[in-house]
Amino acid sequence: MRLADSFRSERFGAVRIHELQRVIELDSGTSTGAGSRIVASDALRAIESQMVIVVPCMNETRGVIEGVLSGIPHDCLIVLVSNSDRSPVDRYEIEAQTVEQFCRLAGRSAIAVHQRDPGVAGAFKAAGMPELIDDEGLVRAGKGEAMLIGMALAAMTGRRYLGYVDADNYVPGSVHEYCKVYAAGLHLADSPYSMVRISWHSKPKLRDNRLFFSRRGRSSAITNEWLNRFLAEYSGFGTEVIATGNAGEHAMTLDLGLKLRLAGGFAVEPYEYLDLFEQFGGVLESTNADVMANSVPVLQIETRNPHFHDNKGEEHVQGMRMQALNVLYHSPVTLPAVRQAIVDFMVEQGALGIGQEPPRERVYPPVGTLDLDLLYDALDAEALSFRQPDGRAAEGLSAAPPIDRSAIPRRVA
Ligand code: GDD
Repeated sequence: MRLADSFRSERFGAVRIHELQRVIELDSGTSTGAGSRIVASDALRAIESQMVIVVPCMNETRGVIEGVLSGIPHDCLIVLVSNSDRSPVDRYEIEAQTVEQFCRLAGRSAIAVHQRDPGVAGAFKAAGMPELIDDEGLVRAGKGEAMLIGMALAAMTGRRYLGYVDADNYVPGSVHEYCKVYAAGLHLADSPYSMVRISWHSKPKLRDNRLFFSRRGRSSAITNEWLNRFLAEYSGFGTEVIATGNAGEHAMTLDLGLKLRLAGGFAVEPYEYLDLFEQFGGVLESTNADVMANSVPVLQIETRNPHFHDNKGEEHVQGMRMQALNVLYHSPVTLPAVRQAIVDFMVEQGALGIGQEPPRERVYPPVGTLDLDLLYDALDAEALSFRQPDGRAAEGLSAAPPIDRSAIPRRVA
């Protein structure tokens, strides 16, 4: 893979946000070029063999899910975290069978689990995260919550990298490109605490019977603008450096991920930026001297494939925008002028009444605080939806279960 060089970055304490860089060639060969950097296929594979790809999934169709699985490079471990309906038709069972069949055909292994399985709730409670449980005694619904479960499972595998891809992506080639870009970015960042965030090139839409390739998402434009305003208020210089505030597709080292506090629902992606600023921005005291000494590179990479996914409507998008503004408003590092401007904007948008305060989103403790041994044992014993299909064992080859109980890493934070 060949990426354009990233010449400029902006710093916020230890966080180094690189300007958006483009994919130049999906397959670069080995020849160098001016203004670009190549990541050879063996370097990509080295990262992929250490990477877990988490797929949050809620009521997506089987054919689309199959396409997504097919795009994830062979050496990555797939973790499907579902919140799909279990009745009248058990959609999770169909998903789990799809994953199992895929693993058999591809000779690889995976993990699947249902977010609302009572055994999953019991396991997270036992492992030290009661905050995740709702009034029904189940893990709360929400994409952020699914990502948190996926991160915990990834941590148990002992792999070093974690990436996320949505299950509603119609183009397997774009899923493939995202995973390759994660590997290329993490290789180039070359830091124990790095993050790679995707800005897709375009989103195809039908307008007056013509395909129109829209450049930016309806939610991202707002989220990016406000995150940049947050930075500008500190530096005194306007900036457009943040182009990936809402990036659903992103990856990171687990060393970084396990230190992050994840937010619930769709606040999760913008809050990742805020948590980086809160923990490593140098405004509040940091408890992680090692991260502060290493710095946290955030690479933002524009991909080539169009992002073609299920359109869930204007209300859904408006909800996402407001969740981003809620976390920005409540962050202890957001300066008063920006907080006031957020309230004015939300009132203008009709999302807030005059005199009201934006609601708080849920923020969970770092996954690194969980007791992973306890989590695994409880999942294994109580979570009926917890599956570890092993396509190699199914073919009579030597088994390669994704999680080795005797090698689960110790608590890290
Ligand atoms: N397990 C689980 N639990 N999965 C969920 C849940 C949940 O509660 N809610 C949504 N998902 C899954 C969906 O099935 C889909 O695969 C993925 O998460 C994204 O959810 P969508 O509802 O399709 O979101 P979107 O496509 O509008 O927004 C995406 O792009 C935004 C940036 O443009 C998401 O990735 C956002 O997080 C992102 O900010």
